[in-house]
Amino acid sequence: MTAIHKRVFFRLRQKLMGAFITKPQPKPLVLLGPGSALQLGQLIGSFGMRKILVVTDKPLRELGVLDPTLQALHDAGVETAIFDGVLPDPTEQVVDLGIDCYHRERCDSVLAFGGGSSIDAAKVIALGAANHCKAAACIGAKKCKLPAAPFFAVPTTAGTGSEATFIAVISNNETHAKGGVIDPSLIPKAAALDPEVMRGLPAHITAATGMDALTHAIESYIGRWRTDDTDYYGLAACRLVFDNLAEACRNGSNLQAREAMALASHYGGLAITNALVGYVHAISHNLGAKYSIPHGLGNAMVLPHILELLKDDASEKLADIAVHCGIGERREPVPTLVRKLIDKVWALNDEIGIPRTSEVIREQDIEALVTAAITEGGSYPSPRFITEDECQGVLRALRAA
Ligand SMILES: NC(=O)c1ccc[n+]([C@@H]2O[C@H](COP(=O)([O-])OP(=O)(O)OC[C@H]3O[C@@H](n4cnc5c(N)ncnc54)[C@H](O)[C@@H]3O)[C@@H](O)[C@H]2O)c1
Ligand SMILES: [Fe+2]
Repeated sequence: MTAIHKRVFFRLRQKLMGAFITKPQPKPLVLLGPGSALQLGQLIGSFGMRKILVVTDKPLRELGVLDPTLQALHDAGVETAIFDGVLPDPTEQVVDLGIDCYHRERCDSVLAFGGGSSIDAAKVIALGAANHCKAAACIGAKKCKLPAAPFFAVPTTAGTGSEATFIAVISNNETHAKGGVIDPSLIPKAAALDPEVMRGLPAHITAATGMDALTHAIESYIGRWRTDDTDYYGLAACRLVFDNLAEACRNGSNLQAREAMALASHYGGLAITNALVGYVHAISHNLGAKYSIPHGLGNAMVLPHILELLKDDASEKLADIAVHCGIGERREPVPTLVRKLIDKVWALNDEIGIPRTSEVIREQDIEALVTAAITEGGSYPSPRFITEDECQGVLRALRAA
């Protein structure tokens, strides 16, 4: 296919996706603040759930962060079964084990308790369990007949905003390439944004996941599928991140900063569920698949490079963000505001310890990474297509010299 054919194909594919995605989507009921995870336990009881499958990962379970929520569920008369087999960037295999556990334990609902990996795994467990199918059969847009089993979420990172989206990202068992499961019933019935459960999140994960939230906010805001609604959430999320992420990294016990970041993450999720993401995610997903670079870290490293590439194509929108976040003033020329915003992103990355380069990226992989990222990025409503040379430039800049 020539470059022009590819672009026509990408635009058609975007149109097809857009027909499904850009409708206003339902939003979860949100409980916010310290102790809200416990209130969610009570709420799940009042919804009449009898036995819930709690989906989490082992390190988090061993930290004991989940215990008060389990107690709240028991106090509300809800039995629990625990599936703690989630690994970062969960595979179809992990999800299938969770679906087996749901049936074996005769559950009637699912609670995700963890970062984006646990939430995404839990979403597809809830969908696969209701449809008596495996994860692979759920991949794609609205592949299942029945809605997911009743689903609830407590995010423990402030980052992905997965508790607000109808998308789950699941990795192929062999290639680790990421596939999207898209279904409106993946939006939880209720979610708790509880800073207490984020208190012990290490600084480097706080930093990387927080930059994922900023990436969602910016990519949705400058993208072609933005709406007034997504602009509102995108701008609010940007401000919350610039004002609170460094403090949440420095002082993880500052619950105000943690709560602000949880809200930023949620707003970012509300924005991308309608407006989608862009090339930062396209490149970062493929770095994750190839080298297991964590999702947030990949986004954090790629974000300023993509902003440098798109600064003339999205100048008005980037200037809006700078003004809204107090980085510049409306009276300043647009190019000045854009420069200030991009410099602020570089500076925030440096302040919170995001490295500028990675030693794992190898020269011999770059061609394949470019092909995969350009193909994936072509399905996102970025302000413009980026070229293979530009994508190569980003990857080479990320490679440690
Ligand atoms: N569905 C969506 O809309 C969406 C959006 C963005 C990203 N994602 C997906 O989310 C995944 C990444 O999620 P993530 O960045 O939240 O990381 P993660 O869920 O993989 O967690 C990273 C690590 O943090 C630890 N952790 C989590 N919470 C903790 C806490 N409170 N205290 C101590 N340790 C804690 C976990 O044990 C894990 O080791 C990727 O697979 C990505 O593709 C999904
Ligand atoms: Fe993301």
